[in-house]
Amino acid sequence: MSINVENVVVEYASRRVLNGIDLEIDAGEFVSIVGETGCGKSTLLRLILAEEHPTEGRVQVQGRERSRPDRTCGYVPQRYSLFPDKTVLANVAFGLEVTSGFWNRNSREFREEALRYLRHTGLSEADAKKYPHQLSGGMQQRVAIAQALIMKPPVLLMDEAFSALDPGTRRGMQRLMKELWRESGTTVVFVTHNTREAVCLGTRVIALVKDGERGSSVALDLEVPHLDFDSDEEELTRLIARVESASVKMDRPASMAVPVIS
Ligand SMILES: Nc1ncnc2c1ncn2[C@@H]1O[C@H](COP(=O)(O)OP(=O)(O)O)[C@@H](O)[C@H]1O
Ligand SMILES: [Mg+2]
Repeated sequence: MSINVENVVVEYASRRVLNGIDLEIDAGEFVSIVGETGCGKSTLLRLILAEEHPTEGRVQVQGRERSRPDRTCGYVPQRYSLFPDKTVLANVAFGLEVTSGFWNRNSREFREEALRYLRHTGLSEADAKKYPHQLSGGMQQRVAIAQALIMKPPVLLMDEAFSALDPGTRRGMQRLMKELWRESGTTVVFVTHNTREAVCLGTRVIALVKDGERGSSVALDLEVPHLDFDSDEEELTRLIARVESASVKMDRPASMAVPVIS
């Protein structure tokens, strides 16, 4: 088991956001999480990252309770923050340098490794010498992904990481992400607003649904067949409809439990 979320409740100033989340994620899964804005998707990722802690319940990664962010989880948010005064290469090598002490004689190896990861994400040696502001949004996002992957985290958390990209760039990043995931064997938890993206990328799709004041719970936990972007459109449309019908907000009496479909 890679990630284990057990009966997790999160309250902010006694307002309940997550209401009894149970999730078991195996090593190597690619789990997409969908749900309306404000239903607690980012909160759930921050719990796994250990940037936050549950009000009740517990969160474990690789059998250990989360205490603080560490190398077990890489994180790529929607608005990545690269160091503006470092080159792209230095940005990617930074994590390795920090963890080994800056005066390390391996520094050159780290730079070579960083270049390998940049190439892997489709950037060139010329790009590596640039500064972040000289790159497009899509290219900066590639740098952010390289920065996370170079640390070889067993778990990679992505929070709407492609949502600021234009459609063409986004499509390219989705393909790249799937390739990188296949090659690395990393467990990916991928939060997205886009159901098609969730279904095409994930091996499993989880929908969180907010139940008024009671907070959100898991309304759908669906294994999806290995789809590719050029998969059968009919199959894709069917899956998308299924996920969307489960993840719409349900206005119903508080006594009704959220149904779990699997
Ligand atoms: N640190 C916080 N303090 C208080 N409320 C928060 C905090 N973080 C998130 N919230 C609230 O929790 C709810 C879920 O937020 P979030 O996890 O960001 O949802 P999502 O990512 O699904 O849009 C929102 O109503 C948000 O305002
Ligand atoms: Mg969010």
